[in-house]
Amino acid sequence: MLIGVPKEIKNHEYRIGMTPAGVRELVAAGHQVIVQRDGGTAIGLTNERYEAAGATLIDTAEEIFATADMIVKVKEPQPNECKMLRSGQILFTYLHLAPDPEQTKLLVDSDAVAIAYETVTDNHGGLPLLAPMSEVAGRMAIQAGAHSLEKAQGGLGTLLGGVPGVAPAKVVVIGGGVVGINAARMAMGLGADVTILDRSLPRLKQLDEVYGPQLKTLYSNVESIEDEVVAADLVVGAVLIPGAAAPKLVTREHLKKMKTGAVVVDVAIDQGGCFETSRATTHQEPTYTVEDVVHYCVANMPGGVARTSTFALTNATLPFVQALANKGYKQALKDDVHLLNGLNVHRGNITYKAVADVLGYAYQAPADAVS
Ligand SMILES: NC(=O)c1ccc[n+]([C@@H]2O[C@H](COP(=O)([O-])OP(=O)(O)OC[C@H]3O[C@@H](n4cnc5c(N)ncnc54)[C@H](O)[C@@H]3O)[C@@H](O)[C@H]2O)c1
Repeated sequence: MLIGVPKEIKNHEYRIGMTPAGVRELVAAGHQVIVQRDGGTAIGLTNERYEAAGATLIDTAEEIFATADMIVKVKEPQPNECKMLRSGQILFTYLHLAPDPEQTKLLVDSDAVAIAYETVTDNHGGLPLLAPMSEVAGRMAIQAGAHSLEKAQGGLGTLLGGVPGVAPAKVVVIGGGVVGINAARMAMGLGADVTILDRSLPRLKQLDEVYGPQLKTLYSNVESIEDEVVAADLVVGAVLIPGAAAPKLVTREHLKKMKTGAVVVDVAIDQGGCFETSRATTHQEPTYTVEDVVHYCVANMPGGVARTSTFALTNATLPFVQALANKGYKQALKDDVHLLNGLNVHRGNITYKAVADVLGYAYQAPADAVS
């Protein structure tokens, strides 16, 4: 199969859909890979590395879209990219169609086969192509929080781990999923005093078994959240209710009782945020202060560490890219129900129920589409 990897064109997006190592695997299996020149240069994945891995460098996205059988990307295609898609061409990338009627219509009109990273599933009820970005964001939350706690950043001037004779900072993580546990691990690693709250008892039991007494687990309710947040130096918001906006668990009233210069990092901001006072920020201006509490609410945290994020994402996507390339998309989707769950648009039809329902399209079952 001829696989095309264009350079990402969304503002400040430096990730790329495939690493040189991924290219090498595909070329070894007999496929051809074309990569847009300078597609990975910003994160140290140079043209030379792609060529050494066996890729052919192409100057323009137009040429890639015009010839490749499958396009592998990171971000949702922008309108001019959608217009370059060809009938029957496979597109494998993040799509997030439900809130995006324009992109959805362009993909339907393109007659292409669009498979979304974010709806591919696994045997444990998880989303394996979303998880790597949650791991990145969770770990980064502590890095960002520690920096924001510094005096020059408006913070209280507290070192997370303390020093001998000085108590460590109190870190409270609300939500014990992928983001939450990665944040907790980083905070524990730095020597902070860490408490994690979740409303799933099985999850809390699992965390307790894995981390023991170093990690305090608490059942999440209005009272426990209030008690913990008020005493915290750093609070990480990491809740998710699938398919719904994040619940506002921390209110302005709570902030008024917090320490001056305490920090909140709202990772759930991409779902609206779980602090009443959160609003989305960017890497250019990541923080602002409300009620003397520093807020870090970057909606695209993994973009800040685009190199690590690219490796993490492509580790997870490559097996699926290989299946699609080796078997062709129809057989690959028939053989793997989890990849089939990723099919969002097939040759002019919407094949993901939630997208069809919310945007008013007829729904075609993905299994029918590929039968
Ligand atoms: N800002 C970013 O760049 C970025 C990057 C990756 C993920 N995210 C977001 O981070 C959030 C968390 O993602 P995840 O992958 O960890 O999800 P996840 O499903 O793995 O975990 C969410 C956890 O929240 C818990 N939860 C739900 N309601 C709760 C409540 N009231 N109190 C305490 N816990 C509660 C759930 O039980 C679950 O364990 C999502 O909104 C996701 O979109 C943001």
